[in-house]
Amino acid sequence: MTTPQQPKFHQLTPPQRLGWIEQHAGIDSSALQAFTEGAGLSLEQADHMIENVIGLYALPVGVAQHFKINGREVLVPMVIEEPSVVAGASFMAKLARPAGGFTASTTPPEMIGQIQILEVSDLEASRIRLLESKAELIQEAMTYDPVLVSHGGGPRDLEVRIIHESPIGPFLVLHLIYDVRDAMGANAINTALERLAPRVQSISGGKVHLRILSNLADRRLARSQVTIQRDQLAFDQFSAEDVRDGIIAAWAFAAADPYRAATHNKGIMNGVDAVVLATGNDWRAIEAGAHAYAARSGRYTSLSTWGKDAEGNLVGDLEMPMAVGIVGGATRVHPGAQAALKLMGVTTAAELAEIIVAVGLAQNLAALRALATEGIQRGHMTLHARQVAIAAGAERDMIDRVADRLVQEKNVQVNRAQEILSELS
Ligand code: MEV
Repeated sequence: MTTPQQPKFHQLTPPQRLGWIEQHAGIDSSALQAFTEGAGLSLEQADHMIENVIGLYALPVGVAQHFKINGREVLVPMVIEEPSVVAGASFMAKLARPAGGFTASTTPPEMIGQIQILEVSDLEASRIRLLESKAELIQEAMTYDPVLVSHGGGPRDLEVRIIHESPIGPFLVLHLIYDVRDAMGANAINTALERLAPRVQSISGGKVHLRILSNLADRRLARSQVTIQRDQLAFDQFSAEDVRDGIIAAWAFAAADPYRAATHNKGIMNGVDAVVLATGNDWRAIEAGAHAYAARSGRYTSLSTWGKDAEGNLVGDLEMPMAVGIVGGATRVHPGAQAALKLMGVTTAAELAEIIVAVGLAQNLAALRALATEGIQRGHMTLHARQVAIAAGAERDMIDRVADRLVQEKNVQVNRAQEILSELS
């Protein structure tokens, strides 16, 4: 007698998947309650988050499987409306496992806050005066947030730049380097800048104008690397060398051409934003930082690099700013964000940043592998076909049966789905 095969994770219903997570990852399902229908963010909580609230807006939360990051198994929650993203990340995480999965690291969580100083008569003299007052200014900024300082954060350094050319002429910019520990840090640094501004103004002899953090968080970087063993790369009619070299050629296109780099980086952000959003972090800040970092040489280029090692394996690397937090803001208030952190088992912002950058790298690989071989439409078509089958009225097991036929026929249209549905019913 043959034992029936256990259904795979993706074949389960959403409640069964939650049960699977509890059973296999040992995460108490009550911690993930926020993901179930009707639970999660309440209208009252939402009403305190932003202005003029009229309701709630839901998006799917998927779980990417197979991720091993710095030797640790991680189930990654992804909030996204686009099909194929979660499946693509999971599949690439699986391909990465034979070589050990992803490694990832971060620099210290140092944000940059900017103070614009106008009406300075002698820019160089004012710059020197501010630099000579560095110790005093840092000392003062140390008193602003005793809790952050007690956790090892707070002001770290101060830089002064002269902007020689601008539409209003030259001016000074002071950068306050601020270690925000496990917070995203916007509030901490903006508060520090506003409090420091009067002293900066009097030392500079000019007039302080803007006081705001920079989203080009290039001192708060996250980096991930992956090796895909050569024997993992071949599929269908594509040889391992073809797939590997095809991926490298696809990356070279993005490295050399901003038109391609924008789309290439968008693919990375599919993975990055989905985890950023799942954890209640500010995805616009991450987007702004990513694209500004991609243009740091003066020419917009790829955030990732792909090549091969001495054994002919595929190797990838992604480095980008990653200003995410696990305390404060929506992350603290949103029950879904709290559940997302519990699912990943992260206890520091650095660990979260490492997971996000690994997922970005996996997502980039999924896109390049598809583009360099069969194209991306086949993968998209399968999920799209299910949506079309549902739109045509298919229910339960009929959804997959109708969708399979649509894909086979390469004709994913609602009217064809209706015909197949009446044929099969
Ligand atoms: C689609 O959301 C993302 C891709 O366009 C990324 C890429 O082209 O690398 C497939």
